[in-house]
Amino acid sequence: MNSINTINKDNLPKHIAIIMDGNGRWAKKRGQQRVFGHKNGVQSVRNIVEAAGQIGIKHLTLYAFSTENWKRPKTEVSALMTLFITAVKNETKNLMKNNVKLNAIGSLENLPKSVQENLNKIIEKTKNNTGLNLILALSYSSKQEITNAVKNISSDIQKGKISINDITEELISNNLQTKGIPNPELLIRTSGENRISNFLLWQISYSELYFSEVLWPDFSKEHFFEAILEYQKRERRFGKTGEQLKEDKS
Ligand code: IPE
Ligand code: IPE
Ligand code: MG
Repeated sequence: MNSINTINKDNLPKHIAIIMDGNGRWAKKRGQQRVFGHKNGVQSVRNIVEAAGQIGIKHLTLYAFSTENWKRPKTEVSALMTLFITAVKNETKNLMKNNVKLNAIGSLENLPKSVQENLNKIIEKTKNNTGLNLILALSYSSKQEITNAVKNISSDIQKGKISINDITEELISNNLQTKGIPNPELLIRTSGENRISNFLLWQISYSELYFSEVLWPDFSKEHFFEAILEYQKRERRFGKTGEQLKEDKS
């Protein structure tokens, strides 16, 4: 089956967020170390970035490392950091070729200097690209992001720049790292886990959730297109009734 041809190009999500999960289990199933799964997960990233660009998705946020992931064994964490550096280095050419602009969210200051430097280099290099906006969530925690927003807003009040009545949902959104990026219409999580794991809590308040059983290293373009097709079958009501939506359309 070739799902790409059945996707309605007029009803595409502008922003898709993905919790890329299942690398460790994928490796274990093959009698390998967990890192082997992470290495194979890079190919899936490549495929999905290409697929997103192919159909014209504007923003793609990939959850690559959570603040909670720092609790993993030191060897796994350092292997992941090395992998981020090599992936970022090796992908620069491809990103340029595909007109992809790279960005990152999270407590980036907590990443090793070498990761920060390589990341900044590629962000700088791709900043004028006009195709897909690829956002990597690295050392990311949604609760931390919201906490920082509360601190920034409180500090502006303390300085007298704004008053309490100026606090609106828009102001809060503008104090998150995703400022200026529309909320994801679709959130995908692979590997059969049905949870959010501290990812984009504010931003996904009305997202369509799609849980796939497929482990991340096996997640293909076809799986990605199937998720979009499923999204297009859903009725997004935003509190209204189905009847109201039909009236709105006519
Ligand atoms: C996701 O795969 C990648 C990261 C969290 C870095 P996991 O490493 O969580 O794989 P499982 O869930 O243990 O299979
Ligand atoms: C969530 O996956 C974080 C990333 C995919 C980067 P985890 O595998 O760390 O999530 P939990 O701990 O099982 O919820
Ligand atoms: Mg996991």
